[in-house]
Amino acid sequence: MATVTLTDGRNGKSYEFDILSPSVGPDVVDIRSFYQQTGMFTYDPGFTSTASCSSDITYINGEKGELRYRGYNIKDLATKRSYLDTCNLLLVGHLPSRTELTAFDLEIRKRSFVHEGLKNLFYSFPDNAHPMAMMSSAVSALSAFHYEHLNITTDTQYQVMARRILAKIPTLAALSYRRSLGIPFIYPDIERSFIENFLYMMRAYPSADTVIKDVEIKALDTIFTLHAEHEQNASTSTVRGVASTGAHPYAAMSAGINALWGRAHGGANESVIAQLEMIGSVDKVDEFIKKAKDANDDFRLMGFGHRVYKNFDPRAKILKQLLDELKDDLGINSELLEVAKKIEEVALTDEYFIERKLYPNIDFYSGLILTALKIPKSLFTIIFVIGRSVGWITQWIELKHDKEMKIARPRQRYTGPVNKKL
Ligand code: ACO
Repeated sequence: MATVTLTDGRNGKSYEFDILSPSVGPDVVDIRSFYQQTGMFTYDPGFTSTASCSSDITYINGEKGELRYRGYNIKDLATKRSYLDTCNLLLVGHLPSRTELTAFDLEIRKRSFVHEGLKNLFYSFPDNAHPMAMMSSAVSALSAFHYEHLNITTDTQYQVMARRILAKIPTLAALSYRRSLGIPFIYPDIERSFIENFLYMMRAYPSADTVIKDVEIKALDTIFTLHAEHEQNASTSTVRGVASTGAHPYAAMSAGINALWGRAHGGANESVIAQLEMIGSVDKVDEFIKKAKDANDDFRLMGFGHRVYKNFDPRAKILKQLLDELKDDLGINSELLEVAKKIEEVALTDEYFIERKLYPNIDFYSGLILTALKIPKSLFTIIFVIGRSVGWITQWIELKHDKEMKIARPRQRYTGPVNKKL
């Protein structure tokens, strides 16, 4: 086995560590015995150089702008297959046959109802509660309604648990939205497909016809597929961290939802539209670009930059193309679109952004499409939650199969006082 040798410059002592090879991507140095051998810790705030696990779900090459789920290119999945195909691929490991997809689809439809008691939780939230606060609470509460998933160990049990949460999350999302407006709750309609049913639960009123257009279903299907998985990002690492303690899977999902909420992560999609609205017109773009570049101003251009993608975000490219294709059919707000295009144009040619490799990320474009789907800003991160729920739960299952899994427990470099006396 190839090794790497570390020499301590203070005393000349050398230590050897194995190099582990992945199927593709950078090799990793196995430092599990690092502390035992050297008496030192490694230091890596934000885990920019640390692989926290082995995984065969998603591959990202940030330099090339490449993203693959179970080996399949994201563009192929987003343009040639449906979100439910992708869910099946992630959960089971292969793309479903027509028969498998029909069965999967039916199962998800049937499991979309939530316990009637869960509705009471929504009544107890204050008016104007943010849908993300309601959503994370509701998913956590689901662990009380399905406590039997706490100590599961078989593949069949994992799949039932996973399909149940996938099916119920859109229902909880719609309940969060309707509670925030104080409008009547709508039950799932299992005659409708996964995405159509979600839009129906959001928009419908009792005793009125609700028509969902195919172009709307296509747009949301693509958005969900692009958000479905993204290896060890902040929310997924949070899910894994909670899962590593043996907590209920839905408690881990709820923690992931809270991690996603932040502006630096999934919350960016809400902030992008708020920022585009604040900028308001093309002639103000330069002023805000200047603010974004000012080291003394904490203003950041929302929807720009990514920890891993340092060339382009492949998901953003696909969404940008979708935006162009559907802008007339969906009735995309042309003023906001003009502002967005101008920001993109200026930022992509500006030294500050080029030097720092800051490119539009997925959140830069998704809000414009979601606005056209009549989804309010406060629901944007919820849309991310629905798409990503399959990724989180797939990672949860993978962690449970991982023989090398340990409780997530990093160490620290202590810099506080020593031996203070009372
Ligand atoms: N606008 C202006 N400057 C930026 C931006 C931005 N959006 N993003 C990064 N920078 C600058 C930083 O100020 C820093 O500059 P410096 O080197 O002069 O100090 C440099 O670029 C590196 O930034 P970091 O914050 O160190 O990069 P990191 O990889 O830790 O952060 C992140 C990535 C959080 C996504 C960041 O780019 C950001 O805050 N972007 C805006 C929020 C956003 O769009 N988030 C969505 C991410 S995608 C997702 O989660 C689905």
